[in-house]
Amino acid sequence: MTTHPRPSPTPPTPPTPPDPCAPRDRRTPPDRYARPVVELTAVTKEYAGGVQALRGVDLTVLDGELLAIVGPSGSGKSTLLHIVGTLDRPTAGRVAIAGHDVAALSDRALSALRSRHVGFVFQSFHLVPGISAQANVAEGLLYCGLSRAERGRRAAAALERVGLGDRMEHRPHELSGGQKQRVAIARAVAGEPDLLLADEPTGALDTASGRSVMELLHELNDDGATIAVITHDQEIAASLPRSVRIRDGRIVSDEWHAQPGRPREAP
Ligand SMILES: Nc1ncnc2c1ncn2[C@@H]1O[C@H](COP(=O)(O)OP(=O)(O)OP(=O)(O)O)[C@@H](O)[C@H]1O
Ligand SMILES: [Mg+2]
Repeated sequence: MTTHPRPSPTPPTPPTPPDPCAPRDRRTPPDRYARPVVELTAVTKEYAGGVQALRGVDLTVLDGELLAIVGPSGSGKSTLLHIVGTLDRPTAGRVAIAGHDVAALSDRALSALRSRHVGFVFQSFHLVPGISAQANVAEGLLYCGLSRAERGRRAAAALERVGLGDRMEHRPHELSGGQKQRVAIARAVAGEPDLLLADEPTGALDTASGRSVMELLHELNDDGATIAVITHDQEIAASLPRSVRIRDGRIVSDEWHAQPGRPREAP
């Protein structure tokens, strides 16, 4: 009996690891509002000293939304943003971000969740001084496990995206306020987070630069980004599809504005 050698099985192709920072496809309208990115249920936050900064907040933000969070100074807006962004934990209540229950996560797991799912933009830019715009944006991609060269390429693409292709090598002190905020936005979105949180992003800018930063946020939202913007500016709030009003740690109104092509009511 002759034996034939078995054909050697083709080695299985190793699964390609998902790229957490892969550029996202432009959302088609039916994909929008398909899943919640933020779910807060009965969230309270009490600071040491007894300040009740949040008193029972329920808030759901769906994928692809662009909303304003408005309210007077001290009403709890930044506290809310810190809790939504998992920079802080609530005293009580449930917080889920991109489907992950925050209470179940260790601090380490929480910071991994944050770096993967949330991008932040602050009033005062928070750029690293002394390094280029491109290096600042590349820093935001450190967790992606990409090579240095690839981080540089993606940072360059993000800067092109925000209209700063000709300012890659400028350091923060060589940029205008509006340009600094664009670098901060490029850094926040370069890793394609599920959620972009902006705390008074136009607060330090003149009217024209503020307007162009808001236009950029609208463009990013048109491309599928979910964005929450804290603002004191009523005009900005009214220009966004949804505005959530907060006072003394409570949500006092949650309005949907008619927008061309957008739902009038919460989807
Ligand atoms: N780390 C903290 N420790 C103690 N109290 C705090 C802390 N952070 C904020 N607070 C208090 O919690 C309340 C809400 O503060 P928060 O910063 O959320 O307000 P805000 O709406 O962002 O105000 P603003 O518009 O001035 O930025 C305020 O009364 C504030 O004094
Ligand atoms: Mg604040």
